[in-house]
Amino acid sequence: MRINASIFAADPLNLEHELGRASTADFIHVDVMDNHFVPNMSFGLHTVSRIADASPVPLDVHLMIEDPENWIEQLAVPNVAVVTFHAEATPKPVELSRSIRALGLKAGLALRPETSIDAFVNYLCEFDQILVMTIEPGRGGQSLVPATLEKVALLRSAIDQSGCKVWLQVDGGINRSTIRLASDAGADTFVAGSAIFGQGGPDARIAELREAVDRDN
Ligand code: DX5
Ligand code: ZN
Repeated sequence: MRINASIFAADPLNLEHELGRASTADFIHVDVMDNHFVPNMSFGLHTVSRIADASPVPLDVHLMIEDPENWIEQLAVPNVAVVTFHAEATPKPVELSRSIRALGLKAGLALRPETSIDAFVNYLCEFDQILVMTIEPGRGGQSLVPATLEKVALLRSAIDQSGCKVWLQVDGGINRSTIRLASDAGADTFVAGSAIFGQGGPDARIAELREAVDRDN
């Protein structure tokens, strides 16, 4: 099980300090938005590489951008571990995943809530991670859309059948109660922003999220 802290929810004026407060996360999740693929903007790639320099744990980069193939090489820097792009943003997801892997990175495929798994279900072994968006991408602090958990369950059995090691990530609206629903549906990698960087200490909130998944398991 992995808990990934989404730095988009942290104080942008104090990123280095915020990274230090989330050092028990498995990864720091970094959202990159371009105001085209989603109606919002976040970090540019220069900032991502500086976050990688300062982060106590590796980065899990989530590209919510058009033309992701144009930006992959800039992400091959120390401490970036995973690069996830959106299925809806490229006509050639398998080729892009192979290019990411060729750079020594893990490759992830993200699906918007309305995107079906049908086109990808026979290619799961081509990816290291599938990210199921449990909200509409582009903003933090939204509530999880329950119907997206059906897709998590479908992917859980498809990944198990594939026999490949593919992380099943959920992103959006994950908190102490919804994390358990997502875990029961089969997710093993959980992104949380506002639930970690909201009130209180991020490391304490991360411990609470882990406990919520482990309870009664
Ligand atoms: C939204 C981003 C998420 C966001 C999650 O498009 O992909 O990573 O930071 O924020 P919360 O956990 O607040 O829903
Ligand atoms: Zn994200």
